[in-house]
Amino acid sequence: MSNAKFITFEGVDGAGKSTGLDWFAEALRKRGIDLLVTREPGGTPLGEQLREILLNQPMHVETEAMLMFAARREHVEKVIRPALQRGTWVISDRFSDASFAYQGGGRGVPLAKLEQLEQWVHGDLQPDLTLLFDIPIEVARQRLSNNASLDRFEQEKGEFFERVRQAYLARAAKSPHRIAVIRAEKSLQEVQQELSKIVASL
Ligand code: TMP
Repeated sequence: MSNAKFITFEGVDGAGKSTGLDWFAEALRKRGIDLLVTREPGGTPLGEQLREILLNQPMHVETEAMLMFAARREHVEKVIRPALQRGTWVISDRFSDASFAYQGGGRGVPLAKLEQLEQWVHGDLQPDLTLLFDIPIEVARQRLSNNASLDRFEQEKGEFFERVRQAYLARAAKSPHRIAVIRAEKSLQEVQQELSKIVASL
């Protein structure tokens, strides 16, 4: 494999991760880095169809977990791995940490089952770096309340997001070298300063 890096962005809905991602990708492009921005669930034609179902259709929690990983399998094989092999960096708006946080922490799917799926789908591929946008749930919910239509996940209660947040933080504590926690309740300028330090370190 080339030296291209695989970087993922994570956080509860409303944490400001997508705004941070746009800024970060632009900062890398300005340094002349060839990169691809993608997202999960999604990132391939089939993955985008699965996203539509996952965000709107009620289903059993384990069906949800398996569909997330099915979309991911397609994404890894068709987009992420080929890009990295040709030297293109990949920035993904969410990856498997989201499954551990939402399906594991939020919905209560046993971690051992998610670990099996992870092993199956991308046992030999992990992000080089993950930026976790962490924010108090009340602040994230206030930001979301400006959205006109909320999907199946965004409609969940505060306790659900608290569990998701704690699951993310637990993963960050277990992998401190891979996962950098960004305090996302800070001003946009302060968040950008933190991101620019990370860009400079890459
Ligand atoms: P997005 O709004 O950040 O694009 O993500 C779509 C939703 O999908 C978000 O509420 C989190 C959820 N999700 C999971 O529950 N598990 C996963 O593995 C992924 C990738 C996303």
